[in-house]
Amino acid sequence: MKIFEEIESEVQSYARVFPRVFTEARDEFLFDQDGKRYLDFLAGAGTLNYGHNNPILKEQLLDYIARDGITHGLDMHTQAKGEFLEAFNNTILKPRGMDYVVQFTGPTGTNAVEAAMKIARNVTGQQNIVTFTNGFHGVSLGSLAATGNAHHRDAAGIALNGVHRAPYDGYLGDDIDTTEYLDKLLSDSSSGINSPAGVIVETVQGEGGINVASLDWLRNLQRVCRKHGVLLIIDDIQAGCGRTGQFFSFEAAGIEPDIITLSKSLSGYGLPFAVVLMKPELDQWKPGEHNGTFRGNNLAFVTAKAAIEHYWANTQLSSEIERKGNYIAERLARIVDCFGEGQFTARGRGMFQGLNCVSGELSNAITQRAFKRGLVIETSGADDQVIKFLCPLTIGQASLEEGIDIVEQSIKEVCQATDTMLREPVYFDQAKTARA
Ligand SMILES: Cc1ncc(COP(=O)(O)O)c(C=O)c1O
Repeated sequence: MKIFEEIESEVQSYARVFPRVFTEARDEFLFDQDGKRYLDFLAGAGTLNYGHNNPILKEQLLDYIARDGITHGLDMHTQAKGEFLEAFNNTILKPRGMDYVVQFTGPTGTNAVEAAMKIARNVTGQQNIVTFTNGFHGVSLGSLAATGNAHHRDAAGIALNGVHRAPYDGYLGDDIDTTEYLDKLLSDSSSGINSPAGVIVETVQGEGGINVASLDWLRNLQRVCRKHGVLLIIDDIQAGCGRTGQFFSFEAAGIEPDIITLSKSLSGYGLPFAVVLMKPELDQWKPGEHNGTFRGNNLAFVTAKAAIEHYWANTQLSSEIERKGNYIAERLARIVDCFGEGQFTARGRGMFQGLNCVSGELSNAITQRAFKRGLVIETSGADDQVIKFLCPLTIGQASLEEGIDIVEQSIKEVCQATDTMLREPVYFDQAKTARA
C-alpha cells in the first residue's frame, strides 16, 4: 500500500520495523493482509495484557455499543464510569487497603504523568521533580523533561526544565545503593539541588531497557522520600496492570506511593485510557483546573470494568503470570548460557523480561530475523540493545514456547553469521547503557 509512503509522516517508527499491513488480531496473534499469522510479543507496547480482541471484554463492549451506551461524555457522570469506579474500588483498591482518589486525565500515559507532576508541584509549592537515568515517562514537554532518552529529548526544541536526574538502581554497579546518594543530596543544603516536589520512578524501566529496581531499593527510595517530605510518584503505566505479577508493580515491595499513574493496559482492550491515583489529601484541584476533552472514554470504562472483574477478582491470573514469567526467565537464562559469548544478560520481573544483547545492531538483527519467522517483538534501551519480551499475560503455553523458540533460532543464526559483533568487552549493563 503506497498511501503510507505518500502522506504519512516520517515520524513513524514501529511501521518501519514491522513493514506489513495488518488486518486482524486475536489473542496473541496478528494477521497481515496476505493472511500471514504473527505471534505478538509486542502487545501494543504493554497495552494488550489480555490479548487482542479479548472475547470476554469484546462481548461487553459490543453489548454496550448495541444499546447506545454513552461513548463520549467529557467528565460527566455516566453509568459506565460509575460501574468502572465501583469495580476498581471493590476489586483493586479496597482488598489492598488502598485509599486513593481517582483522577481521569486525557487518555494517554503522558497525560497522566503531566497531571501527576502538576499535583506534586502544586501541593508542595516546589518545582523540582527527581527522575531517574533511563526513565521514560512520555513525550509531551513535562513528561519529556522527566524522560532520559536523548533521541526523544532532542526533539523538544525547547529547554526541558524542572527536573533533577538521579541514578536508577544498578546504574553505578550492583553494590551501590543509589538512594543513599539521593539521601545525601537532599540532606546537604549545598548540594545544589532545589528541594523537590516529588520523585517519579518506574519499578521496572520498560523503554529504558527492562532495568529492574530491587524491592529493597524501592523501599529505600520511599524511606528517603518520607524523610525529606518528597512525594513518591510511581509511574505504573507499563509495569502495572499485572505485567510483573500483581495488579500494581510496587505491591511486592510493600510500599505506598503518594501518587500512581496508570494507562496502557488499564482499558484491557487497547482503548485509550489513563488515570492518576492520589492520596485524598493531595486532591487539591480546583474544578476544571486540569481538563481535557477525552477524560472519559466510556468504551474504555466498559472494557476496564470487565477486565478487572474477570481477571482480578481472584489470584488465578497472578499465579499464571508467575509461572509463565519463570518459564520465560529460565529460557532466557539458557539462551544467555548458550549464546553471546558470555556477554548476553537477561533481566526482568514477572512477564516483563528482557535480553540484553550488548549492541542495538545485534538485537535489531535478531528481532528482524524473528519477524521474518512470524514473531513481532521489539527492542528497548538507550541503544535498542535489549530484546523486550512483552507478550500478552493470557498467552497460551504453546505460543509462549513457539515465540521463544523463534527468538532462540534467530539468535543462533545471527550469532553464527556475525560473531565478530560480540568482541568488544562490556563491564556491566547499565554503564554500557549510560555511555550509549
Ligand atoms: C512508564 C511509561 N510512562 C509513560 C509512558 C507514556 O505513555 P503514552 O505513550 O501513552 O503517552 C510510557 C509509554 O511507553 C511508559 O512506558
